[in-house]
Parts: sequence; structure tokens; C-alpha cells
Amino acid sequence: MTNPVSDALVFFGATGDLAYKQIFPALLAMVARDGLDVPIIGVAHAGWSVEQLRQRARDSVTEAAKKAGAAVDEAALAKLAARLQYVDGDYNDAATFTQLKQALGGAKTPLHYLAIPPSLFGTVVTHLKAAGCADGARVVVEKPFGRDLASAQALNRTLHTVFPESAIFRIDHYLGKEAVQNLLYFRFANSVLEPVWNNRYVDSVQITMAEEFGVDGRGSFYESVGAIRDVLQNHLLQVTSLLAMDAPIGSSPAALNAEKLRLFRAMRPLAPPDVVRGQFKGYREVSGVAADSDVETFVALRLHIDTWRWSGVPFCIRAGKKLPLTTTQVVVDMKAPPLSVFDAIAAPQSNYFRFRLSPQVVIAEGMRVKRPGEAMQGEPVELIARHHSGVEMSPYERLLGDALRGDNSLFTSDECVEAAWRVVDSVLEHEDPVRPYEPGSWGPSEAAALAGDEGWHDPQPEATPPC
Ligand code: BG6
Repeated sequence: MTNPVSDALVFFGATGDLAYKQIFPALLAMVARDGLDVPIIGVAHAGWSVEQLRQRARDSVTEAAKKAGAAVDEAALAKLAARLQYVDGDYNDAATFTQLKQALGGAKTPLHYLAIPPSLFGTVVTHLKAAGCADGARVVVEKPFGRDLASAQALNRTLHTVFPESAIFRIDHYLGKEAVQNLLYFRFANSVLEPVWNNRYVDSVQITMAEEFGVDGRGSFYESVGAIRDVLQNHLLQVTSLLAMDAPIGSSPAALNAEKLRLFRAMRPLAPPDVVRGQFKGYREVSGVAADSDVETFVALRLHIDTWRWSGVPFCIRAGKKLPLTTTQVVVDMKAPPLSVFDAIAAPQSNYFRFRLSPQVVIAEGMRVKRPGEAMQGEPVELIARHHSGVEMSPYERLLGDALRGDNSLFTSDECVEAAWRVVDSVLEHEDPVRPYEPGSWGPSEAAALAGDEGWHDPQPEATPPC
């Protein structure tokens, strides 16, 4: 049985930052690509008119187009503006939801997107139910999903009082990225990988999510999360699960979810000695940040996965703001050959797989080849697969489209989200203060020891490919 396509899209938080930066550009692209021919209803408590919301949509897509060096698709924008409606009201007031019910008209399977702080999720879904807006509906919720395991469990219970699990779409925009999906595809569409993707051949795995920028403009939000809640519990553990999971028995959402869940459950909960938290110098001067803040803007850790496949292979993961460049990269280091037949191979030895997930999309394999000359001496080279389609969908466009169609393959299930919190829960409260680091560095020096003798592989700017 195929899922019905949602016949209205409601987004709460319509005047907010997420709507401005991500949702309007995604809606415009959807309208341009295949129509998105349903009422689109923004909800917020800002005292705005629908005209103001339309202007906000125009500003948002104009800024996005400018960043991309493209022109705004005026025809699509006119269609989007015509489909936009606006409901203004307090989320605590039942009257707001009565208005929404009217705006929905005869819609039978509306999609409600909660682009609002998680503290409001419970209030909004309860009102949606009371006003009859939840019947047959779907709900999309933004990350962070809870603050820890207990709050995530409580949130799941609240959502389940109104929506069945199949109607809940927990967004993690990393899962909507082309390069992240390619991790899964590349692993299971190439038979050559499976025999070596285990602790007999893999020495260690490193994942680095580096951001050159800080937290300007979102200081108070960031104070409430920190790097562990902001990107580790979700984006980076999701990437880890795709890298490490066993082959699913098929491509259905249930099959993928089952293997991911097994993997999440095999991740050993982090212990304080496995984690180093850092804070860039100057963070405490950012507007909205406490003068004595202990919130981490950098985290590095050593994760263990207790399965036959991965036992003994460290997964070294780090993420930080104000690092030397913006990129997310995975390096899977292979073990050295058992015997050096020719030249001695100095560490770091050069057999690896490298996945650059952003901003470029690159899959590379590090190998050694003989250097020309009489001596049997080698040098490292990379075999590179690059993908330049130029027509990639933004993660938000992809994920919203999937949610409208009721396809939850790229969303996080209740069990997976709780299992991921279980991994980090024991390091959310800490006695050790954050370690300061210089902006533009690779984080506090204490993080070095986590990566073992070979150290971290600091991502370099990606070379421009020859034409
Ligand atoms: C968001 C985090 O979820 O992901 C941000 O809140 C982070 O702090 C962002 O900068 C990174 O996403 P991307 O797609 O730019 O790598």
C-alpha cells in the first residue's frame, strides 16, 4: 500500500531563523521542481500579516540565490507566494489552532513541521490534537530531539500520545545530504569493500566535522546545547552508524532502521576519559553567552563499537567551531601490510578510504605505488572518485519532500534517537572544565592523545581537480 501524499504543509516557527535560512529556499525549490501544489500555512506569534510573511519568503530566497550566485526563480516564487497562508497566534492558545483548522479546510493528511524550540513540541502537538488538526496528519520535528536520554524518552511519549511512530519524522539534515547517502550506497553497492570492512583490516576510523565560523547570532541557542548535543549525538553518530552498520536485508525503511538500531545499541556508552571538551577563546564574549560559560564548542572522543566486526577498532570523532577550515571528512585507516617486502612504510601508513562529505563530495582511496627509478621504493597516491552533478537537492528539500510522501527512510526512529542519547548521556554532565583553544587551531592539545600514536588526520583544503 502506498502512503498518501500530504495535502497541506503547515510550518510552525514561520517567522524564525530556520524558516528563513532553510525552509523557504527548500519550498521554492520544491515548487519549481514539481509543483508542491498544496496550501502552505506558516504559523508564528509575531503579529504579522500574510503579506509580511510573503515578503520574508522573498527576502529569504533572494539571499539564498545570491549566496549560490543564481537568480531567483520569479515564476516559482509567485506560485509559492500564492500558496502561502499565515496564522498568527500564541502556541499556548487554543484559538490559534482553531484558526489553523479553518485554514486547513478539507485537508486530510496535513504535514505539520515544528521548526520551533523543542520545549514547545508538547504544547503544540497537544493543541493540534484537541483542534482536530492531528487526524491523519504527519509531524516533522527538528533536532535537537531532547536534551538527554530522559527528556528524549519523555518527548517520544508525548508525541506518541498524538501521533503513531509512522507519522513522526525526526529530522537530522545530515541524513538528507547526498554525500551521506552515498556512504551507505558505496558500502553496499561494491562487493570489494565488505571483506575488508572489519577489525581484521581496519585499523581505526576518524571523523572530523570542522567549522571555520563560530556561533555569532546564535549564542543563546548554542549555550543551551554545546557541541555534544548540537552535532555529535545526531549528525556524527548517524554518520558513524552508516559507516559501521551491517548490510540491511533490503532497502525498505524498516530494514535500514533495524540494522542502524543494532549498531547504535552496540556503541559503548562514552566514559569521561574518552572525551575532551574545548571552548574557543572569545566564545564568552559572544552575545547571549554567559561570562563564565562551560559550554563546549569543540568535542573529541574515542568511541568503541562492541560487535565482532568492530571490536578493538577505535572510532575517533571530533567536531568544533573556529577550526582552520569548514569541512566534514571521514578517514578509514587500513592496517599496514603484515610484512614490509620493499621499503619500510613510515607511519602514517597510506592505505585508507577518505570520504569528504562537505563542502565537496569526494571518495578517495589511499594506496602506495612505486616511485619511478631503480629502487623498489614507493610513494602515496590517492584514487579519487568525485561527483559533480550540479543538480543536488538541498537536504531540507529532500527531507521535506520525503515527509510529504510519508517516506521515513531518512528520518530517525524513536529507538535510534534514544539509543544515540544512551551513548552520550554519561558525558553530558561533567566535572572537568572545558579546555580553551585558539581560534583557527585544531582544538585543545589534550585532544591529541585520543587519536593514538598516528594522531588526527587534519583535513586539508580539497585540491581542485584537473580539467
Ligand atoms: C546544525 C548545527 O545542525 O548543523 C550547526 O546546529 C552546524 O551548529 C550545522 O553548523 C552544520 O550543518 P552543515 O550542513 O552546514 O554541515
